[in-house]
Amino acid sequence: MADEREQLIAMLTKAYWMELETVMSYITNSTNPDGVRAQEIIESLQQDVQEELGHAQQFAARIKELYGVVPGSMDFTAEQTYLQPPRQQTDIVHVIKGVIEAESGAIEHYNAIIEFTEGKDPVTNDMVIAILRDEEGHRRLFEGFLREYEAEGLA
Ligand SMILES: [Fe+2]
Ligand SMILES: [Fe+2]
Repeated sequence: MADEREQLIAMLTKAYWMELETVMSYITNSTNPDGVRAQEIIESLQQDVQEELGHAQQFAARIKELYGVVPGSMDFTAEQTYLQPPRQQTDIVHVIKGVIEAESGAIEHYNAIIEFTEGKDPVTNDMVIAILRDEEGHRRLFEGFLREYEAEGLA
């Protein structure tokens, strides 16, 4: 039981870091892009920053509720190589693909948490299902953006 709780706290901690790195990456990528076509992406990512921040806070709260300790910033290791600023700030496709990759990573990890907590921890299970729905919505929106670029032969 204690071992499973430790495992779950580790999974929630990973989720917490993923959300915080996504906040950083989305601030970056909602600020840097240039051009007429960038506006939709900028506005969408600005809105997502707030949602991902809310997710990070929910994961932190749940870690505490499960008697874990939310780690400090010195424990953070960045992983989102695919969301670094592109060489050209008009390269919107790079940003769109990076967002899809970040959201897909979150979706995969959150599905694992949902599976892990199934029938064991309904509160975490419920919380992560709700967050998963947000991430699926984010990914779907950016897949739509990518489709538009693909249809025009730009991606
Ligand atoms: Fe999120
Ligand atoms: Fe998201």
